[in-house]
Amino acid sequence: MNWNKLFSESTNGMKESLIRELVALTKGVKGMISFAGGFPAEATLPSKDLSEIFAESIKDFGNDILQYGPSGGDKFLKKEIKKWEGIEDYSDDQILISTGSTNGIYYFTKTFIDKGDVIISEGPSFLGTLVAFEAEGAIVEGIPMDSEGMIMNKLRMKIASLKNEGKKIKFIYTIPEFQNPTGITMSLKRREELIQIAIENEIPILEDNPYEELRLTGTKIPDIYKIARDKFENTDIVTTVKSFSKTLGPGLRLAYAFGPEKVIGEMISWTQKINVSTDCVTQRAVSNFLKKDMFRPHITGIRKFYQPKLNLMLEELEKNMPAEIKWTHPEGGMFVWVYLPEKLNADELFNKAIKNKVAFIPGSKFYPSNQEVYHELRLNFSYPSLTDIKEGVKRLADIIKQELN
Ligand SMILES: Cc1ncc(COP(=O)(O)O)c(C=O)c1O
Repeated sequence: MNWNKLFSESTNGMKESLIRELVALTKGVKGMISFAGGFPAEATLPSKDLSEIFAESIKDFGNDILQYGPSGGDKFLKKEIKKWEGIEDYSDDQILISTGSTNGIYYFTKTFIDKGDVIISEGPSFLGTLVAFEAEGAIVEGIPMDSEGMIMNKLRMKIASLKNEGKKIKFIYTIPEFQNPTGITMSLKRREELIQIAIENEIPILEDNPYEELRLTGTKIPDIYKIARDKFENTDIVTTVKSFSKTLGPGLRLAYAFGPEKVIGEMISWTQKINVSTDCVTQRAVSNFLKKDMFRPHITGIRKFYQPKLNLMLEELEKNMPAEIKWTHPEGGMFVWVYLPEKLNADELFNKAIKNKVAFIPGSKFYPSNQEVYHELRLNFSYPSLTDIKEGVKRLADIIKQELN
């Protein structure tokens, strides 16, 4: 059978998530130290508490939660999310509970994108989302970042030139906190400028914030939707997606989106058609976890666990890397981004690193299709042990030194 002749254009055009392949290359290899994945450390997953809460939830609400549930999500969980986010003024119709944020982002994309439409994102950005955007036929335009996040002058220039070309810009996608892959957090000033630009140009913002609870140092900056609401009195311009993946476990596949009722309504319509609803048992169990006030102490525990890992990775980079190498100084999340001199190619370095039993993800994998950058790389600090962080950074620095010589 010639399958490709029968498959849809979008299936044939679909790109694989190369990161999974790279991570698979490093898995199970004896002595390998991997900074490649983006997994939370197993020690941070509340399996004991959740096993009790799942059992309790089925015992107390079995007949309710083993039935089909509403496509928009469980009203008990929405109530807890409203309290957690401080959005008690939002109606239930402004919130969608989704099967992971990947799912919510996909329905947002489905709601807006026709083939050839433009999405503006940070460049680099989270590959999982970029491939979903491109699978829907969107052209992704990446805006460079500095230590304060997306550079607003470049954003203004890009919007003007795209408009000149007659392109339809459908939304701006941003990961404002401890961005995947760079670890950069967008400053307050930039967030305000972004909202201003979005309002002026009538381009909605999709704020993807799965790492927010993993702040390990520094001071919290208000979410973009909060600034839009409180300072600009605008509750239309931002739709926010948040996930329980990095706090309670990605296996739960639980996240939520909130924003304008019109947009969330269309996202709920896509849910109805594609997955009916998110798992009702998981929704009620997590709602009970929040209701019992277990979430905040749990997050405090995760922060205590990750803080020494981030500190150690930054210290070891400082101690071991040659002077030409630069990196970001994240205040949380899971990743540090390393800038090599332009003459080094991180894709080539990857193969040498694997031979020396240390792995990372080459930065080129995080850029939209139309951007090629080869001298950057991503390091994960949440999964490896402290001993591995120390040894792994040293191994990587040794390889880089050899290459520079
Ligand atoms: C920025 C960003 N958005 C979305 C996701 C997907 O998360 P989820 O497990 O909720 O689908 C990730 C996962 O790594 C991510 O880094």
